[in-house]
Amino acid sequence: MKIISGSSNKPLAEKIAEKLHSNLSPVESHTFPDGEHRVQLQESVVEEDVVIVQSTSSPVDQNYMELFFLIDGARRSGARSITVVMPYFGYQRQDHVFRSGEAVSLEVVIKILESLTVNRLISFDLHTIRIPDLFHIPVSHLSAAPLFEKKIREFGDDVVLVSPDMGGVRRVKIIADALGGLPYLATVKDRDLESGVIQISSIEGDTKKLRKTAVIIDDMISSGKTMVESAKLLRKYGVERIFAFATHAVFSEDAPAILEKSDMEEIYVTDTVFVPKEKQFEKLEVLTISDMIANELATSH
Ligand code: R5P
Repeated sequence: MKIISGSSNKPLAEKIAEKLHSNLSPVESHTFPDGEHRVQLQESVVEEDVVIVQSTSSPVDQNYMELFFLIDGARRSGARSITVVMPYFGYQRQDHVFRSGEAVSLEVVIKILESLTVNRLISFDLHTIRIPDLFHIPVSHLSAAPLFEKKIREFGDDVVLVSPDMGGVRRVKIIADALGGLPYLATVKDRDLESGVIQISSIEGDTKKLRKTAVIIDDMISSGKTMVESAKLLRKYGVERIFAFATHAVFSEDAPAILEKSDMEEIYVTDTVFVPKEKQFEKLEVLTISDMIANELATSH
């Protein structure tokens, strides 16, 4: 097996390689003055099972293009199979037409990946469970839930789980069940699609389920506003300790700053998206999913 990393999340790719007692296969990556990109595999991959690790987080389009070129380079160089490990899948939220005239961007990237003859995809906590069905290649849809459950157990029994919006209730219920039937509810989110303004002003479900400690769980944190507004409402209801868990630390705009000064005590994310030093903050803890990916690769090759 040859493991190749794109440039979006090399620290994760290195951890995966280390856990598989391997090294990253070297790649030369060059950007021309006009912004075009060139990649070159530096090692033979003839008849090899090639694994390409790339999160398509920001800069999303640049990371996608680099991934496409790496896949093409490996295919042209005689790889036997190509597995793409995309821990964070860019454009996954654009999975249908929200307003007429829009593109279904997720389907566009799936078509490109499949036309490049990728054999298999491994990804994490996709925005909806329907997404793997849109592919015509095998998709391993892994989840950070077991990592979160382990941590949440440390908070004791007086805990309620919270989905910050109705779309995430299924995810939260799975974790509540795994933790022996913890109570759960949701805060109700309204997002203006044009302005992006988020409002969270009510709770769906029985507020008697609220406990001293609340744990908000989501698939991703982008601007941070969903988490911050959900926590604000829980505080209004008298919740004393608020923790947050999200798989993907997209961290756009001034997310780190607003999360740090929010009502939340600690914010747990994973390394599906690389969090550079300038985006780290005191309340943040990053859990690694490298073991889970290494196990998946080890058992399927
Ligand atoms: C939306 O449906 C997602 O599950 C997240 O709640 C959302 O992407 C978080 O975005 P932000 O951090 O910008 O509020």
